[in-house]
Amino acid sequence: MTRPVTKAVIPAAGLGTRFLPATKAMPKEMLPVVDKPAIQYVVEEAVGAGLVDVLMITGRNKQPLENHFDRVWELERTLEAKGDTGRLEAVMQASDLADVHYLRQGDPRGLGHAVLKARQHVGGEPFAVLLGDDLIDEQETLLADMIRVSAEHGASVVALMEVAPQDAQKFGVATVEAIPGHDGVVRVLDLVEKPAPGTQRSNLAVIGRYVLQPEIFEVLARTAPGKGGEIQLTDALLELSRTGLGGGVVGVVFHGRRFDTGDRLDYIKAIVQLAVERDDLGAPLRAWLKDFVAEI
Ligand code: G1P
Repeated sequence: MTRPVTKAVIPAAGLGTRFLPATKAMPKEMLPVVDKPAIQYVVEEAVGAGLVDVLMITGRNKQPLENHFDRVWELERTLEAKGDTGRLEAVMQASDLADVHYLRQGDPRGLGHAVLKARQHVGGEPFAVLLGDDLIDEQETLLADMIRVSAEHGASVVALMEVAPQDAQKFGVATVEAIPGHDGVVRVLDLVEKPAPGTQRSNLAVIGRYVLQPEIFEVLARTAPGKGGEIQLTDALLELSRTGLGGGVVGVVFHGRRFDTGDRLDYIKAIVQLAVERDDLGAPLRAWLKDFVAEI
């Protein structure tokens, strides 16, 4: 019998060095994408897929995350007194979203180590992992699809996306085979974390969404440091796929919209793309962009 997925784990202990000095005193997860911190999009995505129990794996200097998902009575009273219901709703939205729990990673020993920290909280159920640097368009149903595929196949599930060959070195890269009768779902045969340029065996990159069977924990507990001297989630998934433990690993091939807010250029693109589609900002921004582009 498959156990339902109810919990989401969001690793958020990273130092955000690519955004220094902005991230010197502020977590990178709090960087605004238009007018919402990046992390809120990720929590909203988890909630949208029915996961209202969220565990964030944090570290030092991450208190603003806890503050963001908490109530701010003074601000709420002030907005209420002014009759500013739009902003009041926006402020309260983050605190009403989900039950958010926090656990510190302690030693920064990599993504696999961060996920292993969730073991006690998650227990013996399958669970989702969402990486904060990846934003998936809210119109997409990727996470819900992955949860369904995980139940159907009784396996761990990774999200895969085709990338340009020169970009493969930034990701975990999967070698796969088709599963007859299951369009867009593939069996993962091999995984390599950030292959050296030109050595990747496919153009399918693992993007930051996973649905994992609890067997991943026992594997992570014995996974030696890999690429970059860190305990890699990719290496533990490779063991699951090779041994078939926890039903092995399948991939859902994603063709929708993903934004990488962990990269400065992609972060700027994400803001522009999302703002252009907004009712309140889209029209004037589009008009200005056309003039601006004509001038450069
Ligand atoms: C992590 C994973 C990698 C995956 C990527 C997706 O890398 O280790 O396998 O492809 O997330 O964004 P990071 O970007 O944290 O270095």
